[in-house]
Amino acid sequence: MPPILEVTNLGKTYQSAGKTLSVLHDINFSIEQGSTNAIIGPSGSGKTTLLGICAGLDRPTGGRVILQGLSLGIMSEDRLARLRNESVGFIFQNFQLMPSLTALENVMVPMELRGEKGVRSRCLELLKEVGLADRADHYPIQLSGGEQQRIALARAFSNQPSILFADEPTGNLDQETSDRVVQLLFGLNREKGTTLILVTHNADLAAQTGRVIRIKGGAII
Ligand SMILES: Nc1ncnc2c1ncn2[C@@H]1O[C@H](COP(=O)(O)OP(=O)(O)OP(=O)(O)O)[C@@H](O)[C@H]1O
Ligand SMILES: [Mg+2]
Repeated sequence: MPPILEVTNLGKTYQSAGKTLSVLHDINFSIEQGSTNAIIGPSGSGKTTLLGICAGLDRPTGGRVILQGLSLGIMSEDRLARLRNESVGFIFQNFQLMPSLTALENVMVPMELRGEKGVRSRCLELLKEVGLADRADHYPIQLSGGEQQRIALARAFSNQPSILFADEPTGNLDQETSDRVVQLLFGLNREKGTTLILVTHNADLAAQTGRVIRIKGGAII
């Protein structure tokens, strides 16, 4: 099987205050379908930036990303948005739930965007899977960090993505909730074949993945 993700000579620089900041340089790797992977590295090493580019949320300044055989660099924003909605799951470091929507409504957004049927009951089912069926009508501000994290997880699962990117999925969670989230992630991999790419500072979590990619100062080491 061809790799689900191929990153070649990837670079990212930011311009600010007349200075060029090189955040990622010459990154090369490929990810097998159905595999589990961790990206680890110090704070500021470029992990979130790399994840966003691989998921088509951000554009590199050099090199290319091929996701599911499709070259992201030549895609329009609309086409990229469609690809993300159809086959990519993303859990942000800071969840990015919509504050004006309830937990249930947050989970429903991607499915509604796709114009699917039976959205409410399917999303309630997803909330049940993450143990939050009883918080469906709560707003993000009324939920703890760990609960918000699990809502973000339910939302990321909702399109049954072929690849799931998660930025510090256990970052703000106590041991028990963290174990539960990890089980959900790996269950998705086992049962649905979802490829996992997890950015983490958690050595236990990284040790459970099939492969660890180490990044430091914007390069793979
Ligand atoms: N929009 C931006 N403009 C300028 N610099 C940026 C921007 N976004 C990120 N950076 C810089 O890029 C570097 C890498 O940031 P990134 O968020 O990818 O790190 P990280 O490895 O995810 O760190 P952490 O573990 O703390 O989450 C940092 O030095 C950051 O300040
Ligand atoms: Mg980060």
